[in-house]
Parts: sequence; structure tokens; C-alpha cells
Amino acid sequence: MTRPSDSAFVWAWLPDEAEPVVAGRINRVGGSYRFIYGKSYLARPDAISLYEPELPLGPGWIDPPEGLEMAGSLWDASPDSWGQRVIIARLTGKQGHDADAVNLDRLTFLLESGSNRIGSLDFQTSSTDYLAREDGTTLDELHGAALAFEKGELPPALAAALVHGTSVGGARPKVTLVDGDKHLIAKLSMSTDTYPMIKAEAASLELAHRVGIDVPGSRLVTSLGHEVLLIERFDRPGGRTRRMVVSGLTMLGYGDFLGARYSSYPELLEVLRQRSAHGEGLGRQLFERVVFNIAIGNIDDHARNHAAFWDGHHLELTPAYDLTPQPRSGTEARQAMDIGRDGNRASQFVVCIDAAHEYGLSRDEARDIVDHQITTIRESWDEVAEQSRLTKIEKDFLFGRQILNPYASYDLAARRRAAQQPITGASGAQGRAPRGVPTGSQFTPRQRPEADVTLDPREMS
Ligand SMILES: Nc1ncnc2c1ncn2[C@@H]1O[C@H](COP(=O)(O)OP(=O)(O)O)[C@@H](O)[C@H]1O
Ligand SMILES: [Mg+2]
Repeated sequence: MTRPSDSAFVWAWLPDEAEPVVAGRINRVGGSYRFIYGKSYLARPDAISLYEPELPLGPGWIDPPEGLEMAGSLWDASPDSWGQRVIIARLTGKQGHDADAVNLDRLTFLLESGSNRIGSLDFQTSSTDYLAREDGTTLDELHGAALAFEKGELPPALAAALVHGTSVGGARPKVTLVDGDKHLIAKLSMSTDTYPMIKAEAASLELAHRVGIDVPGSRLVTSLGHEVLLIERFDRPGGRTRRMVVSGLTMLGYGDFLGARYSSYPELLEVLRQRSAHGEGLGRQLFERVVFNIAIGNIDDHARNHAAFWDGHHLELTPAYDLTPQPRSGTEARQAMDIGRDGNRASQFVVCIDAAHEYGLSRDEARDIVDHQITTIRESWDEVAEQSRLTKIEKDFLFGRQILNPYASYDLAARRRAAQQPITGASGAQGRAPRGVPTGSQFTPRQRPEADVTLDPREMS
């Protein structure tokens, strides 16, 4: 049995620094983890808070915020289900269902995962010697794996490199790679995938770029006959420096459980607006992301799939990531965060337009954003699908189901027509389509969105 860890030192790469310094220490007290800044760190003129308000710079132990076991900004640097499974397998030999009962403590996950983690923190047992956990895989081997990826060969280093992905969050299998001075996340296809997730994510990143959303550079390669998506890391600006990153969950102050229930885009925007150095344009940026998630059927837009850079004083929204059309059987869908302040999560453009004011947008501006995205996606789909190696069957399967599902456009055209018509007496109201959420029987998954969108019809076959 693995002994729980009681303590870990937190090392941090300060902004623009190539080497980490010890910033403080986490101690486990029962099921709770408290943090203290080191005296040497506090004495540094360039010391910054690892994240405010939860870890204010100053002496003394800091308990986690209420409702959390550990400060969110520290736990953000932890492995998520994928990395945790790899670590459990390595430490206990247990995999699959056998691993379900294994409950390792948080410090063990932080101390056993690879050091090239998201953001600029790492965790060590020493306060004096920093030792990156590479687990025998050298950077050269990782580089070779990255090059072999490009050539479509099986890189033997891949399995050994798995540990390098353990510190990256998320549920999907992934590894981190270093290719020259480029740091990459490699998201892997699984032979058990029942759905072309990786190719669909590649297509989504390209579509996002085309509609004007800031996304990291990415490239689809083949390994072992399966697609792998190489994504450039935005937390590695170059020259061995690292950028601090906090998740949306941490910005909202929630743990995973409450976050799933209460996270909302307007609240996230509020935090970003209050804490950003330049708040202008943020509402539009976030609104575009919500609309895009709906457009591509990404209902996995929970608060861990949003993040911001932290420089000790200010937040700055990171590029968008994890834009993956999700498996979907029925017609109705809900986003993972509230779109407005009324708790509505229905994956529909009209819900976004109704909430436009929360994002500092007029209804017309919101409608323009929706129309622009729909048009761009429709016009680009053939080319993007081909570029993303989707077969014709996969392409047709995705369109109208994940991509521009008619449910997303429900009521959009009718509302637009109503908005354009002068409302005289009762006729305006009569001209409207029936309100409310449509039932599954009103739409079939393959129904084309043309039915409710006033855009040029296009044949997808
Ligand atoms: N391009 C990137 N640069 C830096 N960090 C990233 C990038 N993409 C994702 N991440 C981080 O890695 C985590 C896992 O990636 P994600 O794409 O969300 O994987 P999954 O599909 O398994 O959820 C994210 O929660 C985020 O913290
Ligand atoms: Mg994710």
C-alpha cells in the first residue's frame, strides 16, 4: 500500500525566469491541505502571490478556501482522471475497475506526476534541490518520439513518455512532448474510441480559428495507425520560461462538485473583467466561445476547460482549448455552464442571444456573431473535414448531429423574422414560432439546420 504523503514543496517559475524557485510548502492536515510561503520566497523582491485571493502573499499558514480541500490554484497543477489512472497503475499495478477502489491522496498525485505540468508550478520533496521527474525518458527520446510522430512511425518512447502526460489534466489520454523549442500536448486516439474524437477536435480547432477564436496551433499526425493531435502549449512562451495558469474553476472558487452545478459564463466573465489588466473585448471573446461550443456540439465546456494566465496581479484569458464535439444520441443538449444568469444551459443560440447583455453585447451584435459562425462553419465544413482526415461517413455523421445540430438553431430564424417585422396588434406574436424547448421528437439527429436558419442551403453529400 502506498503511504500518503504529508508534505510537498511548491516550486514556481516566476514570470520570465528560466529556473524555478521554492515558493512554499503544502502540509496535509487530515483531509485538508494548507499552504505556507517560504521565508526565502517572501524575502525576494520579485515574489508574487501564486493566486489571489486564495493565496495572498504573506507569512503564516493559509487554509484552503471554504469548501475546498486544497487551494484551487495548486490543485489545478494536478493530474486529472487520465493522469491519475496512469499513476495508480504505476504505483499499485491496478488498472481498469481494479483501480476504482484505489484512493491515493492529493500530494501523492502531485509528487508522482511528471514535472512538465500545465502552468508554472511543480512539486518536490526537497526545498533545496529541484529534480525534474522525467522517469528515465530523456528530452532527446521525447524529441525523437515527436519526430517519429510526424513520420507516422510508432515511437517506442511513447509508452515511456506516458508519465510526461500524467501531470496534464483532463480525462483523455495524452502525453507532453518537446519538439525543439516547442512544447506540445499530444492527444491520442484510443483503439476503443467509438467516435473520431481526435479528428473531430482537430476540425474544431480549425473551425474555431476560422470564426476568429484564439486557439493554439495544432497538427494532426499518425501514430500506430491512429490519429494524434499535437497542440502547442500556450503556457510555454519559450526560453525555458513558464506562464502561470489558473482554471475557470479556480477563478470561480469552486471544487469539481459544486463547479459542475453552479459554474456560469457571466460569473467567469465578471471575475475576468475585475482582474484583467485590459477588460475590453472580454465579453465578446467569451460570448464567441459559448456560441462556438454550441455550434460544434461541445457540451463539455465545464470550468476546467477554461483558463487564464496569472502574472501575480492580473488575469488574462488563455486561448481556447478542448473544443471537442461530444458524442450525442438524442437531440436536446445542455452546456456544462450557465449561459446567462437564469441558470439556462440549453445548447441553443437563442439562449445566448437572450443573455447578450451579460456579455456587454446588444442583441444585434450577438445575432451577428451567431450568423457569422454558422455561415463560416457551413462554408468551411467540407474543406476542414477533409483537412482533418474525416472520412465521408464521419463527416456526414458529425454534421447536423454534433456540428450545427438543428436543436442549436431552434427558434433562431423565426425570432429574426419577428424582430424584423413591425409588430402590429397581435400579429407579431402570432408570427412567432412556439416558444420553449423542443422535445426530441420534433427533431431528428440528421435533420439539416437549414430548416431554421436563413442561410443559403448547402448540400453536404
Ligand atoms: N494548448 C494548451 N496549452 C497549455 N495547456 C493546455 C493546452 N490545452 C489544454 N491544456 C491544459 O491541459 C488540460 C487537459 O487538456 P484537455 O484538452 O482539456 O484534455 P481532455 O480532453 O482530456 O479534457 C486542460 O485542462 C488545460 O489545463
Ligand atoms: Mg478538458
